[in-house]
Amino acid sequence: MSREHGNGIAAGGATPVRTAPWPEWPVVEEEDVRAVADVVRSGVWGSTEGTVVRDFERAFAEIHGARHGIALNSGTTALHVALTALGVRPGDEVIVPAYTFVATATAALLIGAIPVFADIEADTYNIDAAAVERAITSKTKTIVPVHFAGAIADMERLQQISEKHGLPLLEDAAHAHGAIYDGRSPGTLGAAACFSFQSSKNLTAGEGGLILTDDDAIARRCRSLINTGRASDGAWYEHHLPGGNYRLTEMQGALLRSQMRRLPQQTRRRDANGRYLDEQLSQIKGLRPMRSDPRQELHPRHLYMFRFDADEFGLPREQFLERLKAEGVPASGGYPVGLHQQPLYSGQGLREQIPGPAMPHLLAHDYGAASCPNTERACASEAVWLTQPLLLAERRDMEDIVCAVSKIQASAARTARNVGTAKD
Ligand SMILES: Cc1ncc(COP(=O)(O)O)c(C=O)c1O
Repeated sequence: MSREHGNGIAAGGATPVRTAPWPEWPVVEEEDVRAVADVVRSGVWGSTEGTVVRDFERAFAEIHGARHGIALNSGTTALHVALTALGVRPGDEVIVPAYTFVATATAALLIGAIPVFADIEADTYNIDAAAVERAITSKTKTIVPVHFAGAIADMERLQQISEKHGLPLLEDAAHAHGAIYDGRSPGTLGAAACFSFQSSKNLTAGEGGLILTDDDAIARRCRSLINTGRASDGAWYEHHLPGGNYRLTEMQGALLRSQMRRLPQQTRRRDANGRYLDEQLSQIKGLRPMRSDPRQELHPRHLYMFRFDADEFGLPREQFLERLKAEGVPASGGYPVGLHQQPLYSGQGLREQIPGPAMPHLLAHDYGAASCPNTERACASEAVWLTQPLLLAERRDMEDIVCAVSKIQASAARTARNVGTAKD
């Protein structure tokens, strides 16, 4: 992430609101370096011989109140393995939100299953339970709610749907490390939850992932699928399932174990800053912070998001983002299109490379027919994302964000008034 901001032209050509750098990510302390160096010196680098990854798995499961943690090499493989362990097979349908990172849906494709896109709620950007119900067919096997930006999806309603139709919920918790919802955390809200430790995430080792579950059988299958199909109590050359080698190294385990000591405090700080921004930004015309769910006690805020109304604010979103950057606050509009509009689904992608047995089903699925107006509006003109390291700053730094947005708003309002006067 760039360390210096504020060298563009600020609103009205004046001095930018902020020139100081934002917090760096990842946070690196001497104890992280020592933890990795100790493993390197030990010469035990693989998790099949060492205990570091195992310790981390236990600790991560414990803070989420889940019985089992299975670490692996990415969030994408976590989703792929967990879907396989849940029994998803070629030709099955898996319901995912249209507003998410591509991996949520690709994980189904990698099995030869068919991702079916459901729209999001207009005011949370999380999967819409009503759209999920509409998308269920006789081929549906699993529903994958994403806790987008760290906001827990409406698990109460989704659990009702899951029970009514006998479909397991797989939580995509890539943004939701340490979240608390109704006294519980991801990993205990569905059949299993998948986390990512890729470099932008709230807990990171550069890459990595982890599956949490309370279910002994799912845990056993996941552990075997990431370890060449071995059984925990079996011999080294005894293989039961068609599993890959998706294991994490002990060096990554050491880094994660060390970084995790800071996770609770960082999560609380992001959430407190996020709540403050919600309060302040909701008072600015044309901005709507995401609706917060009172059932969520702790929101990890992997992203801080708000909805931007160009007409009310008086500027198109792209100009707003440019001006915000010029004021020293980096932000983006997030995904340019919904997943159903990505070339992978709307173009030739699926024809060029798809798993064999699923071919006729996949090609028969009409992605052009997906109706996801909330997703399309969020992508085209409405969503504004600030990344999580900004929320690790102090409360007074949040005031810079509010100040920058207010300044741009005032300048847009002045321009609108002048245009109005010129027309009179
Ligand atoms: C919502 C979501 N799901 C899954 C993933 C995949 O994780 P990874 O990049 O570790 O494969 C990501 C992240 O990058 C993500 O944002």
